[in-house]
Amino acid sequence: MSVVIKVDQVSKIYQLGQIGTGTLASDLASAWAGITGKDDPNKKIDDESDKSTHVALRDVSFDVNRGEVLGIIGKNGAGKSTMLKILSRITSPTSGSIKIKGRIASLLEVGTGFHPELSGRDNVFLNGAILGMTKAEVNRKFDEIVDFSGVEKFIDTPVKRYSSGMYVRLAFAVAAHLEPEILIVDEVLSVGDAEFQKKCLGKIKDVSTGDGRTVLFVSHNMEAVKNLCNRVVLLEKGGVIDIGSPATTVNAYFKRNTNYFGHVKYSATNAPGNETIILLSADLKINGGDILEIDKGVAINFEFELRQSFDEFNYSLNMFAITGEHIFNSQSASFKAEKGILKASCIIPPNLMNNGDYSISILAVNKGSMPLFNFENVLQFEIFDNRKDGKWFGEIGGAVRPKLDWIL
Ligand SMILES: Nc1ncnc2c1ncn2[C@@H]1O[C@H](COP(=O)(O)OP(=O)(O)OP(=O)(O)O)[C@@H](O)[C@H]1O
Ligand SMILES: [Mg+2]
Repeated sequence: MSVVIKVDQVSKIYQLGQIGTGTLASDLASAWAGITGKDDPNKKIDDESDKSTHVALRDVSFDVNRGEVLGIIGKNGAGKSTMLKILSRITSPTSGSIKIKGRIASLLEVGTGFHPELSGRDNVFLNGAILGMTKAEVNRKFDEIVDFSGVEKFIDTPVKRYSSGMYVRLAFAVAAHLEPEILIVDEVLSVGDAEFQKKCLGKIKDVSTGDGRTVLFVSHNMEAVKNLCNRVVLLEKGGVIDIGSPATTVNAYFKRNTNYFGHVKYSATNAPGNETIILLSADLKINGGDILEIDKGVAINFEFELRQSFDEFNYSLNMFAITGEHIFNSQSASFKAEKGILKASCIIPPNLMNNGDYSISILAVNKGSMPLFNFENVLQFEIFDNRKDGKWFGEIGGAVRPKLDWIL
């Protein structure tokens, strides 16, 4: 396996209020204003923090092998785009080094890479030239690019008149078809419609598998990350938290970014709810142990404060996979509920759920299905598979894994 990108202890410190507006053109305008003593055209009105700094990346190291699709994930502001900009040489690291073998095509935020005054056609050739291709080589790819982008009607219009969706369509088509050795794709795809996004994800897969080219892919779409990537880097506050397989790293991301626990107790000031009902605590009790495994039952205990009485009150519990997929709903019987403390327990039986990460919401309901309050994401937990004893091969799919009665 040959390493094509080596990121070695890279840190990036931004000087807030100085250069660093996001695009090269506006950064140059800011720098020029600084040199000539004019007002910075990009200075924000509330920019009081001229002297302060912000660490966008700290000591980031990783290697990327040829033909790999490396995902970079993390919350907003984690440093993903900064990393891609450093690799695309749009900005330089404050310390550390990067080594890159091969021609890079980058698809960063909408606006980089294209010249606004030039037509779509001219921009295709300009980008080809930047990637070191001859006119004849670009010519050969031209129809394919325009066809993929779906903007042929506007190919001779200056790109400054394009909508952001059209812009991204053409930019992606160019980047993916001009045979760069390394393709860098930031979130820009989210600008396009769902159909185009799907087409792009398919193309990225082709580029990496068919031609053995390397792809760096930043996205908040965890399904796409799991589908496309061989390996994933998890960034948090500029630092690397985890590098590993998509399944484990995406899981680590979810766990760090939801309040992942089996017990929660609220105080008077932070209890969720409204004038009719508040949640005081929720807790998860595993039957026979501390580790929740698929063949163990679990009791979920809630304590609410009801601020008025209801004649016909009930609960509606919803179980979600932590990725958002709705697994099931279960509604309690209705009962007469008096104002005051209200306790409820429900038991999830053993051998119902598959292993995985789950989240529970509970909706308090009044007579006639009138929702009083939906307590979302009250508890998150992981169910472990304790039956992987050599008899099972790989993951067993599905959200539930019920133990059915077999008649044999
Ligand atoms: N040009 C800049 N000048 C100053 N600070 C910046 C600049 N660009 C980014 N930052 C700061 O650096 C941090 C990392 O930003 P970055 O854009 O890399 O995050 P991200 O992971 O791409 O986030 P998102 O998911 O929102 O795209 C943020 O706190 C951001 O505010
Ligand atoms: Mg970003």
